[in-house]
Order: sequence, then C-alpha cells, then structure tokens
Amino acid sequence: MVMTALPKTPSFRLDGRCALVTGASRGIGLGGAVALAEAGAHVVMAARNAEDIEAAAQAVRDAGYSAQGISLDVGDHDAMVASIAEHGPFDILFNNAGTNRPLPYVDVTLDNFDMITDLNLRSAFFVAQQVAKGMIEAGKGGSIIHTSSQMGHVGGIDRAVYCGTKFGIEGVTKASAIELAAHKIRVNTIGPTFIRTPMTQSTFDNPARVKWLEEKIKLGRVGEIEDIMGAVVFLASDASALITGTSIVIDGGWTAD
Ligand SMILES: NC(=O)c1ccc[n+]([C@@H]2O[C@H](COP(=O)([O-])OP(=O)(O)OC[C@H]3O[C@@H](n4cnc5c(N)ncnc54)[C@H](OP(=O)(O)O)[C@@H]3O)[C@@H](O)[C@H]2O)c1
Repeated sequence: MVMTALPKTPSFRLDGRCALVTGASRGIGLGGAVALAEAGAHVVMAARNAEDIEAAAQAVRDAGYSAQGISLDVGDHDAMVASIAEHGPFDILFNNAGTNRPLPYVDVTLDNFDMITDLNLRSAFFVAQQVAKGMIEAGKGGSIIHTSSQMGHVGGIDRAVYCGTKFGIEGVTKASAIELAAHKIRVNTIGPTFIRTPMTQSTFDNPARVKWLEEKIKLGRVGEIEDIMGAVVFLASDASALITGTSIVIDGGWTAD
C-alpha cells in the first residue's frame, strides 16, 4: 500500500516568545495583547496612563496569562528607546498605538495634522525601528505587525490626515519588509474597518456616519475587538512564516468594491 506523507500544520502557538503591544490599555491593543498572551507569549503592554495599563495587565494575569504593564509615551523618543532596551529584545511587536480626530479636509489645521501624524506615523516608525534593531541583535528573527486600517487602502470622509498616516504605514511596511527579510523579520499590517472602541465613539454617535458604515460593510455589521484577534495571532505565529510586506484587511468587505 502507498503511504501518504501528511504535511504538518504549522503552529499558531507563541510559547516562549516575548511580545510588545503599544496602546494596550483598551480597544484594539488590549484585544491583541489578550490574543497573544492566550497563544502563550509573554506580553509587555504599553500605554501612557500608568493606572489604566497596570489594570489591563493585571486583568490579563488574572485570566491566567503572562503580562507586564509599562507606562510609556511612544512619542517621547528617548524614553521609548530606553524602555525598549530595558524590556526587550522582543520576538513580536504589535505596533498599535494610534489616534484620529476626524475633520473635513478644508478644516484641517497644522495642530490636527501634527498630532495625528506624530503618533500614527512618526512614533510608529521609530518604535518598529527600535524593536527591529533588538531583533537583529538577538538573531532569532521576529514578526512586526502594524495596526494600519482599511483607511490605509481607501479614502474616507473627514479622514484625509488619518488616511495619509495609514497609507504611510503601509509604505513603511513594504519597504522595511524588504530590508528586514535578510534577518528573518517579517513586517505586515492589519487593516480593520470601524471597530467599536473609545476612538470611534464620535463616529458611532453620528447617525449619518452609522448609515455610511452600514452601507459600506458588506457583512452588515461593524467590527468588534474580537474580530482582530485571530489575525494578530496568525501574523505573529509560524502559521504565517512566508507572509511579509503585506496587509490583512478585516473590513467585512468594505474594500471589495
Ligand atoms: N477603532 C477603529 O475603528 C480602528 C479601525 C482601524 C484602525 N484603528 C487603529 O487601531 C489602533 C488602536 O485604535 P483604538 O480604536 O483601539 O484606539 P483607543 O481605543 O483610543 O486606544 C488607544 C490606545 O493607545 C494608547 N495611546 C495613545 N497615545 C499613546 C502614546 N502616545 N503612547 C502610548 N500609548 C498611547 C491609549 O492609552 P493612553 O491614552 O493611556 O496612552 C490606548 O491604550 C490605532 O492605530 C487606530 O488608528 C482603529
């Protein structure tokens, strides 16, 4: 009888790996941190508010997983470099801290532009650069996952600055993936649609915008934090070993047409 050799499904487990998650005290970052911890990683959770991030890390520990909370403003470059040196090297980065203050294009001010761009693009760029340096030095490879958005692939009302930053991080992802591949470091993004978090509350409070969302999301519902969790684990794990320089959109079909 002919014996069929079965391929072995790569593992989605992350036991023994150390992950940094920025913006981990609530919303998408908290979801990613829980998912990575549940898959076996030790998770270093970062946000500015010390009380909030410690409460979030404690909740992850109370659920039986391994987590540490650190108070860090990723926009404070020197503090960020020192903190990553202290807590790294990391095998996984979920580079998620980000924000939005939607404004009509013609009303955008320098302050609004600088505030969104400083966090979503400048800080995200340098956090990933710093983690990548640690990964290169450790010589074990790694996975960097940026939180982009569906708005890194299409435009949106009142979102000219936000789209600029998210299209920007898609470009950074592609270019850095080319350079970091030599070190077995993969770089990808997740591109969520509107997810119910504190950041999107103002959109969900606006009936005209809710109508827009419901028309655009083909699956007929907005996203919940749970919707991003599987993609984060997948991109962090060996199950995505040949995936780099690209994006997983989690958009219910928004960008399909
Ligand atoms: N919600 C959505 O519909 C949606 C869709 C697509 C993409 N995204 C992206 O997903 C990411 C997270 O969004 P979210 O909705 O979860 O936001 P959120 O609910 O406002 O949470 C933001 C998190 O980032 C932290 N943070 C903000 N500024 C920081 C800084 N300078 N340094 C360190 N941490 C900082 C916040 O804690 P502190 O305030 O204590 O620092 C908090 O933990 C963002 O990149 C966003 O652009 C969101």
